[in-house]
Amino acid sequence: MGKVPDLMERLTSLCKRRGFIFQSSEIYGGLNGCWDYGPLGVELKRNVKNTWWRDVVTSRDDMVGLDASIIMNPKVWEASGHVGGFADPMVDCKKCKGRFRADQLYYALRQGQSRQGGTATVGFSAIAGTVEDALKAMESQLKKKGRQIREWDNDFEPIRYDQQQSDQAPCPACGEPESLTAPRAFNLMFKTHVGALEGSSNVAYLRPETAQGIFCNFKNVLDTQRLKLPFGIAQIGKAFRNEINPRNFTFRSREFEQMEIEYFCHPDQADQWYQSWRQARFDWYINLGLRSDNVRLRDHDENELAHYAKSCADIEYAFPFGISELEGIANRTDYDLGKHQEFSGKDMTYFDDQTKERFLPYVIEPSAGVDRSVLAFLCEAYTEDEAPNDKGVAQKRVVMKLHPKLAPIKAAVFPLVKKGGMPEIAHKIHEELKGRWNVFYDEKGAVGRRYRRQDEAGTPFCITVDGQTIDDQTVTIRDRDSLAQDRVSCEKIVSYLSEHLES
Ligand code: GAP
Repeated sequence: MGKVPDLMERLTSLCKRRGFIFQSSEIYGGLNGCWDYGPLGVELKRNVKNTWWRDVVTSRDDMVGLDASIIMNPKVWEASGHVGGFADPMVDCKKCKGRFRADQLYYALRQGQSRQGGTATVGFSAIAGTVEDALKAMESQLKKKGRQIREWDNDFEPIRYDQQQSDQAPCPACGEPESLTAPRAFNLMFKTHVGALEGSSNVAYLRPETAQGIFCNFKNVLDTQRLKLPFGIAQIGKAFRNEINPRNFTFRSREFEQMEIEYFCHPDQADQWYQSWRQARFDWYINLGLRSDNVRLRDHDENELAHYAKSCADIEYAFPFGISELEGIANRTDYDLGKHQEFSGKDMTYFDDQTKERFLPYVIEPSAGVDRSVLAFLCEAYTEDEAPNDKGVAQKRVVMKLHPKLAPIKAAVFPLVKKGGMPEIAHKIHEELKGRWNVFYDEKGAVGRRYRRQDEAGTPFCITVDGQTIDDQTVTIRDRDSLAQDRVSCEKIVSYLSEHLES
């Protein structure tokens, strides 16, 4: 990556300045891990979700959709293993009361990024010895807690640290030695109560993933839609995780949205469907503008796999803060349907009336984060280059080179000046286009400024009504990326935009 220095800072500032993303409840000081999408952000996010829905649901014959509730019967989360095992290992600093995820600290140690200036000393109070010993011990502690070691925001640099004999790691925040507790499990689900009473009998959870709503409705969908295997159910919706350390802008939030598919198939066909979804999902990001050298498919090695997964691959993006996961594709076998069958006592099997075989289908799960996709598209789009100003002098500009399908505003319409009949024609064009696309009308200020505002919003085309329009009913259409200006007859604007936006 590295095309723009300090990309994250510049991007977050643009997001705020132009109304893509705001801090949640900002007037009260914000709420860590929660974000609001402003007028441009909500359009971008909706375009991401609509494109996904069209590509994985409505353009296929083997997929249907679902919108399940966020709060479900708490038994769902017992069956899925989230009540017992959806926990992050956490350590506390006894001095500054800082709280850290043990696995993040683990990687900080591995990468020598602790406060000790590149010298990672050793692990937790429970772990003594050399760096090597500490890492090994921590790895096995985390694994015993049912937690995979995840490479958070880790850019896979070779491990850099000086081997040093010590028996305590200092707190990464305050630097105090011997102040960290041993790792403890911290469940990530948000708890609430259903109904007027607050007791243990009516505890409920905000869903930490949308997937379980799909598994629970497998039979409902199968029976009502007269489907045959293989078929998939897709869902887009909010999920909530009480992340210990939300960070990197919207990348790790406490409230976020997922786009999940559970694809049900015969166990014998699961490997083939896994491969097919793995590739289709990778291609999706590339087709929407992520450069192939910024995206990669990383297969999990065997000791990284969750206990129920037969195979798993992550689609990862080279964010400015490191290579990190956008989406996971997993062969979850018949684990989830089997667990719900066991916990609910309801039959979850599928009967093939041709072969007369009854079995629990296997499931391939491509599970993507909406917010992470949006963030990757924003990072990829952010560009600084030069464009001529009103006087023809080259000037720096910030331009969001978003794929036209994702761009919040598809075209802006400007009268060159606010007189000579130009605003009337521009209004007419705007009226005609707005039934079809999200278009924006602007007549305020110098036209060069108006272009720049649209460049920052990622608007692919700017249509300008000028003196010549009055004479020959043509306008200029400026291309955001190439800056080329085509002269187009007013009656051909719709076909010009359709061709360039929808092809
Ligand atoms: N049903 C499987 C599942 O939920 P996951 O890897 O935990 O798997 C899937 O989550 C996707 O959801 C991730 O690849 C990521 O894009 C998104 N996601 C997970 N936790 C997130 C968080 N705290 N903030 C933003 N997105 C998150």
